[in-house]
Amino acid sequence: MGTSFVIIFMLMTVLVVAEMKADEVEGVRSFSRLDFPLPPHFVFGSSTSSYQVEGAAFEDGRKPSIWDTYAHSGYTNGANGDIACDEYHKYKEDVHLMVETGLEAYRFSISWSRLIPNGTGAVNPKGLQYYNNLINELINHGIEPHVTLFHYDTPQILEDEYGGWLSKKTVKAFVAYANICFREFGDRVLHWTTFNEPNVFAHYGYDLGLFQPSRCSSPFGTNCVGGNSSTEPYIVAHNILLAHAATARLYFKKYKAEQHGLIGLDVYAYWYVPYTNAPEDVIATQRAFDFFIGWFLNPLVHGDYPDVMKKNAETRIPTFTKLESRLVKGSFDFLGLNHYSTIQVEDMSINLQMDVRDFTEDMALPYNPSGLRELLEYMKNYGNPPIYIYENGQSTIRNETLHDVPRLRYIQGYIGSLLDALRSGSNARGYFIWSFLDVFELLDGFESGYGLYYVDLDDKNLKRYPKLSAQWYSNFLKGRSHQVIEISPNISYLSQSQFSQ
Ligand SMILES: *[C@@H]1O[C@H](CO)[C@@H](O)[C@H](O)[C@H]1NC(C)=O
Ligand SMILES: *[C@@H]1O[C@H](CO)[C@@H](O)[C@H](O)[C@H]1NC(C)=O
Ligand SMILES: *[C@@H]1O[C@H](CO)[C@@H](O)[C@H](O)[C@H]1NC(C)=O
Ligand SMILES: *[C@@H]1O[C@H](CO)[C@@H](O)[C@H](O)[C@H]1NC(C)=O
Repeated sequence: MGTSFVIIFMLMTVLVVAEMKADEVEGVRSFSRLDFPLPPHFVFGSSTSSYQVEGAAFEDGRKPSIWDTYAHSGYTNGANGDIACDEYHKYKEDVHLMVETGLEAYRFSISWSRLIPNGTGAVNPKGLQYYNNLINELINHGIEPHVTLFHYDTPQILEDEYGGWLSKKTVKAFVAYANICFREFGDRVLHWTTFNEPNVFAHYGYDLGLFQPSRCSSPFGTNCVGGNSSTEPYIVAHNILLAHAATARLYFKKYKAEQHGLIGLDVYAYWYVPYTNAPEDVIATQRAFDFFIGWFLNPLVHGDYPDVMKKNAETRIPTFTKLESRLVKGSFDFLGLNHYSTIQVEDMSINLQMDVRDFTEDMALPYNPSGLRELLEYMKNYGNPPIYIYENGQSTIRNETLHDVPRLRYIQGYIGSLLDALRSGSNARGYFIWSFLDVFELLDGFESGYGLYYVDLDDKNLKRYPKLSAQWYSNFLKGRSHQVIEISPNISYLSQSQFSQ
């Protein structure tokens, strides 16, 4: 994910964003790695995804995904992931950096169109070799691989042939792809995530048309390649839920007994707070939870969509058959949450005919680490399942500085909040910083970076440099971090501009 995402919300917001001065934000506290459960009960890691780090986009038989197409259509400041961080060639160096940092786990995704270039059919031996190499390198260095099967990257060929996730044929193709991954890598990979942020993928890719595959219809989005914002987000989400469920059932039935791994799905999750205490805003806040999180978690936990979604979207949201409902319900071992920020929700019931867009225009983004604790508390409504925080982090302008105090302060605040959540009974099992390197970001390209490590794009070797946040995280992971961070005055403008655009 990325800054870009935050910026969209900023552009869309009609509320004044809370301005925060650095010195007001810092809560003085100290904690260390030893305050948390140790692996395998709890792991600290960092995340990336294939298109954002691998590069080698046209090498060794890989074929394009919809992300290649999107990046080459000028949406990303003219940048693309053709080379990215070149992790495809530098994976050994990167695993070495992970070891130095003290990472206990690495979350990455498999590029479907690298492993199976045509989306279905023959496996690409070079792709297979690459992921085997990466997984072995991680395992040999004691780092747990956490693998995502789908991270915004439908093989372009399936998009062209039958409209990608609009078609049930993609459900079938995905399950076959997942089967190959389990068969080939499942002896070493114990944590499988089927889909990354399918709620954002459906909303931004098929309603607003801002992410690949750039589908939308007027007046909900412009400049799209086609689409229907009123129906397609719901259809795509439905097919993804069916694909997830069939994949998880396959894993349970055919692999779990032998491989002993776990499987789950990962949603993008804000913490939502009402803009005012007015009952309308309080109800709107629940609606935001239901539309954005309940869209996937209600089917997974209860077997059906939230009532308010069925009511507001009427016949536009697909119905689960009895069989599908049984298949989807309970089809996970854990849930993943990508959490970055808190959003204030104001009632806009007047926009109800605008389906899912009713809440997104009315959001603001205060820095609020306690949002993570509250989000984990909210997960108790879903039976307090095991949870991995698979993304959390903050961007800065990429070239700004290695002295990234705002990011460091952000991470420290959220890890503290996570500790509070664990102490009040959360079932969180891991925490991953987005991102390990300054990767190719979804809308921003290379303009902003979330990385613990800066990647010098002007150096033909793409040298990586640790930021202060990498050093802090490393100290923390090695049990050495008890200090509270000092904020040097020359940097605090960064954090302020972050919140006051
Ligand atoms: C992909 O499909 C094309 C066209 O049908 C075929 O020529 C090619 O061999 C296929 N590639 C793989 C890796 O299966
Ligand atoms: C979207 O689909 C619905 C239901 O089929 C239809 O009524 C509507 O006209 C479509 N809108 C567009 C923009 O195609
Ligand atoms: C970052 O620095 C490089 C080289 O100094 C320059 O080419 C690039 O445009 C800069 N990017 C931004 C976002 O300022
Ligand atoms: C900002 O402060 C840090 C730490 O005090 C110092 O190392 C750095 O040189 C300063 N940067 C600038 C641009 O003044």
